[in-house]
Amino acid sequence: MYIVPSSTAYNVSRKLANIFSCNVSPVVRKRFPDNEMYVKIIDDIKGEDVLLVGNTRSDSDIIEYLLLLDAIKEEKPRSITAVIPFFGYARQHMRYNNGEPISSKVFTQAINQYADNIISIELHDDQTLEYSKVPFTDIKIIDPVYKYFESKNIDFVMSPDDGGYERVKLIGTRLGIPAYYIDKKRIDARTVKMVMPEEDYADKNILLLDDIISTGGTIMKASSMLRKSGAKNIYACAIHGVFANNSNEKIEKYVNELTVTDTIETKYSNITVADEIAASLKSKISV
Ligand code: R5P
Repeated sequence: MYIVPSSTAYNVSRKLANIFSCNVSPVVRKRFPDNEMYVKIIDDIKGEDVLLVGNTRSDSDIIEYLLLLDAIKEEKPRSITAVIPFFGYARQHMRYNNGEPISSKVFTQAINQYADNIISIELHDDQTLEYSKVPFTDIKIIDPVYKYFESKNIDFVMSPDDGGYERVKLIGTRLGIPAYYIDKKRIDARTVKMVMPEEDYADKNILLLDDIISTGGTIMKASSMLRKSGAKNIYACAIHGVFANNSNEKIEKYVNELTVTDTIETKYSNITVADEIAASLKSKISV
């Protein structure tokens, strides 16, 4: 098996290579004088099973990913598995207003031209899976999160919105603690009020868990409400740490600990998703 890394996912690629005892394939990357991107794979991958591991967070990441997919396909491998730890553009998974594209569909269908399988981690919405004609597996990261927080004496786990309630329930069950969510109540067209369940938060250790932290607005608002209610330690955790505009620096002031997985490699990536990807791969291709 060959693991081709995009420039956004070296760490996960290396961890997968360790698990499967193979090398991370070298990739030549350059820019043409007019700044267009150039990539070239070096290994002879004809007839091989190839994983392309990379994120699609920025426009440039997407170009790199598509160019690498084509470069791989042209070499006639036995199979191509597109591994996308952070599947960007997934928040526009449906049309909210006339005239809009469905961004996650555009990218899924583009990958379909090349890949035999797609694996992602915690997509923003499962609707995206339905846009694919090839098998598309989205992995939920429960066990690694549970193991990381197992020894931290958490009293309960909280989702900052109802959409994340299933996730916190699963973690809560594993940790043997209650799980709650903060309810967003619409007051009028412009105002949304966040309402916490009526519990005793005083001196409690709380795990605040979300799928993604981008601007950090959601996690900071929820942390501030918990703090006002007397919480002792707030452990903020998300699967994907996007940290738009360096929001991590602001978030650190609100929480006792900030942890994300390595879908996007950051200094807070204390949890790896590599073992979960490996387990999923083992069930799909003979490795
Ligand atoms: C919302 O549906 C998501 O689960 C996250 O809560 C949200 O995307 C986080 O974004 P931000 O960090 O910008 O508040």
